[in-house]
Amino acid sequence: MYKESTNVVVKHLVNRLRDTRTASNEFRLTIEEIARIVAAEALHDFPTVSQNINTWQGHLDVQMIEVQKVVLVPILRAGEPMLTGILKTLPYAKSGFLAMKRDEETAESKLFYENIPPLKDKTVLLLDPMIATGGSLIDGIDYLKSKGAQKIISLNVLGAPEGIKNVQDAHPDVDIYIAQIDERLDENSYIRPGLGDAGDRAFNTN
Ligand code: PRP
Ligand code: URA
Repeated sequence: MYKESTNVVVKHLVNRLRDTRTASNEFRLTIEEIARIVAAEALHDFPTVSQNINTWQGHLDVQMIEVQKVVLVPILRAGEPMLTGILKTLPYAKSGFLAMKRDEETAESKLFYENIPPLKDKTVLLLDPMIATGGSLIDGIDYLKSKGAQKIISLNVLGAPEGIKNVQDAHPDVDIYIAQIDERLDENSYIRPGLGDAGDRAFNTN
């Protein structure tokens, strides 16, 4: 299943990312904000547990998200601002890391570093702003499954229809929540209209 956000605030923020006047600091903050909204959409029916808390009027039983069941895994570099944003909402979620780089000639991704906590009985929120060919996401999911992940939800900002289809064909059990699906991939495997290279835009490199 994939679900594109219909929230006009999300679309507004995505279009700020497209604008070349949006410099790296604002670019990262905007990704953080989009990630928090898309995470809220993805977790809309996530299991909760009852907690007794002290309020200004005494004890109260409330329902809270089972944060210990969530593991956040950004695909570095460009996934880093998504992690920072979601940790503002769920500060005690565990985090793991995958560092991957796409070969710009072949569009093949390569894993350079991983640090993944135990995944048994956890829901992994896999964070990468871009789904272009889908290769990085497919490889990331393959890796998480090899580490025991049973439930993975992909949170993304911008995707090409071809890449989303590739991910769904390879991993039909992984739900994708995405802010915006664009028109197509170009001949260099970049998303059009897209926003350029998300890592470069976020970290002021090119
Ligand atoms: C970008 C992006 C995705 C990948 C998408 O990362 O953040 O991880 O490309 O392309 P794909 O769907 O064709 O695999 P990149 O490899 O450029 O690394 P970066 O985050 O360091 O810029
Ligand atoms: N990675 C990006 O950052 N942008 C694209 O358009 C494709 C891959």
